[in-house]
Amino acid sequence: MIRVDLRSDTVTHPSPEMRRAMYEAELGDDVYGDDPTVNELQDKAAERLGKEAGLFVSSGTQGNLVSVLAQAQRGDEVLVGDQCHIMNAEAGGTMVLGSVVLYPIKTDDFGFLEPELIQAAVKPRDYHKPPTRLLTIENTHNGSSGRALTPDQMKLMADAGHEKGLNVHLDGARIFNAAVALGVEASALTEHVDTATFCLSKGLSCPIGSVVVGSKDFIEEADRWRKMLGSGMRQVGIVAAAGLVALDSMVDRMQEDHDHARHIASRMAEMKGISVDPEHIQTNIIRFGVPENTGNEIAARLFEEGVYINGGDSDLRIVTHYGVSAADYEFTISALDKVMKEIA
Ligand SMILES: Cc1ncc(COP(=O)(O)O)c(C=O)c1O
Repeated sequence: MIRVDLRSDTVTHPSPEMRRAMYEAELGDDVYGDDPTVNELQDKAAERLGKEAGLFVSSGTQGNLVSVLAQAQRGDEVLVGDQCHIMNAEAGGTMVLGSVVLYPIKTDDFGFLEPELIQAAVKPRDYHKPPTRLLTIENTHNGSSGRALTPDQMKLMADAGHEKGLNVHLDGARIFNAAVALGVEASALTEHVDTATFCLSKGLSCPIGSVVVGSKDFIEEADRWRKMLGSGMRQVGIVAAAGLVALDSMVDRMQEDHDHARHIASRMAEMKGISVDPEHIQTNIIRFGVPENTGNEIAARLFEEGVYINGGDSDLRIVTHYGVSAADYEFTISALDKVMKEIA
């Protein structure tokens, strides 16, 4: 039987307070703009991230998609980190549905894009090339073990894009993890970007949803794309109600997830066959290396022991989150220790 599911923070369930708020939510038809709970969430999210307006969307993928499509036309180029989620894990939606050209920029081990690389990637006016319109940044950076980019780093990257006339979008799926880890307001991390998406259904533990924020004009355009994508939703305040609770009560507690992740990584670093640097772990994602071709076997053995993680070749991941107790994490450490000894 599975005791601990650490595949992702998306496996979290809503808290009892969220369920109550969902039951009691005031509702209206959001396609008419009539849902007071959705409107409150959108306003609150925009305020928390220091932007004019917000838009509730079904997922992080949809948030990124409408943000890109609202800022880049068919045939335009969008600069992305080569390890980012938009590029590697969103089914190519921006390319397929928006017909934009994604141009990957080398990402460093901390999820940072060097300003020189950003600027060198911007195409000169030349009819052989797609016009570069938009830069996207990811914070925390999932592929870099959830590293949190600082306000200064965000400014450096965004300035590099703006100096070249680009708009800048932040995939801030876990922006509140970054803010908590760095001890800053989330708005300090969005100050220099034009638009941002964050997810309610990851570390914030809501069942569904993300919010896109930016200027009023941008949100109007993103709303048009959302409608086109079939996500004009009706009494969706029943879901947005959980988001309001999350913004009030689930942000600060993410520090616990980060502390558990650091603790687990430090124990893993002592296990033979695992390569991980605990100092690198800032938030709730632990990426770790195991000997070549053993990742699937390790995941399968852990599953038998009651711990669920995704398989892989030699790169595996553990994600800490709400709903897992300290005892469950200790259980995970023991199970992993046992499995690694067997593998060795
Ligand atoms: C950095 C990042 N961006 C976007 C997404 C997409 O979110 P969703 O699964 O809600 O579509 C994820 C999902 O894990 C993510 O890690």
